[in-house]
Amino acid sequence: MKTMEWKDNKLILIDQTKLPDDLTYFECKNYKDVILAIKTMVVRGAPAIGVAAAFGMVLGDIAGENLEKVAKEIKAARPTAINLFWAVDRVLSSDNILDEALEMYKEDIETNLAIGRYGAEVISDGDTILTHCNAGALACVDYGTALGVVRSAFNEGKDINVICDETRPLGQGARLSVWEMQQEGIPVKLIPDVAAGYLMQQNEINKVVIGADRVAHDGIANKIGSLMVALAAKRFHVPFYVAAPLSTFDREISIYDTEIEERGPEEVTHYGGCRICPKGTEVRNPAFDIVPKDLITGVITEKGIIDLDNFKEFFQKLKY
Ligand code: MRU
Repeated sequence: MKTMEWKDNKLILIDQTKLPDDLTYFECKNYKDVILAIKTMVVRGAPAIGVAAAFGMVLGDIAGENLEKVAKEIKAARPTAINLFWAVDRVLSSDNILDEALEMYKEDIETNLAIGRYGAEVISDGDTILTHCNAGALACVDYGTALGVVRSAFNEGKDINVICDETRPLGQGARLSVWEMQQEGIPVKLIPDVAAGYLMQQNEINKVVIGADRVAHDGIANKIGSLMVALAAKRFHVPFYVAAPLSTFDREISIYDTEIEERGPEEVTHYGGCRICPKGTEVRNPAFDIVPKDLITGVITEKGIIDLDNFKEFFQKLKY
């Protein structure tokens, strides 16, 4: 299953807002359609947003638009995932925007397979792995980062179980990660977000593997709720891994300087179309949080597993 496809000068996206009940597609005929798809989370997840943005630039180019202006508009679609900025800048500085976007599409899959291979090494036979949000095939072009690790371990024949938390308010864990695991027959259970700590206390979770929207030398930014999972994992000595490609790394800033997206109140006041609080209730809805590096066991990349304490040395060694 590919989350997106470039066909007849159009970007075709799986409409993730309609999953798990309907597998439908959203056609982007121009770059504004791509911006709308990113803003409304038809396409979501850091690597997927990045590759979709690259094709948004292609659509702008085909229409003869001013590419600096298109780049600025696409970058304003969502603020937290660095892949969006990385992808737009990468195609902008290339000689052939379409070739570069197609290359990024291909690379994304290869990168996730490599993350999966490294990540499977830390997964043991018999593990029950908790994941948060959706860092699966749907969050990338294919295969996934955190769920790529799960897929690789499963394909190696390891006896594993997956626990997905719901990931309120938009339910990416319940709607998307559970669906992905079920498609491949990987044993999966859904839990309410609030149950993760209890299950760790009961020794029912042996590993946590999540994705990231940004990785810096002092921590990561990921879907809201990641911090609470990480705190519980530290308390109950459960290894906490982050799986992310190098395109998600930000080597310029402290993770605390990441802009955290604040989304609309209706995502919190309503559930499945029904209001769940008094009319007019004031809301805070930060979409991401920050997990400091002391709570992270390692970051699984396509070049190996990095301990954030050795951030500089890792890149020096890679000459990246
Ligand atoms: O708001 P979303 O659904 O785009 O948030 C996605 C996440 O937080 C993912 O965990 C992250 O982008 C990593 S995807 C491989």
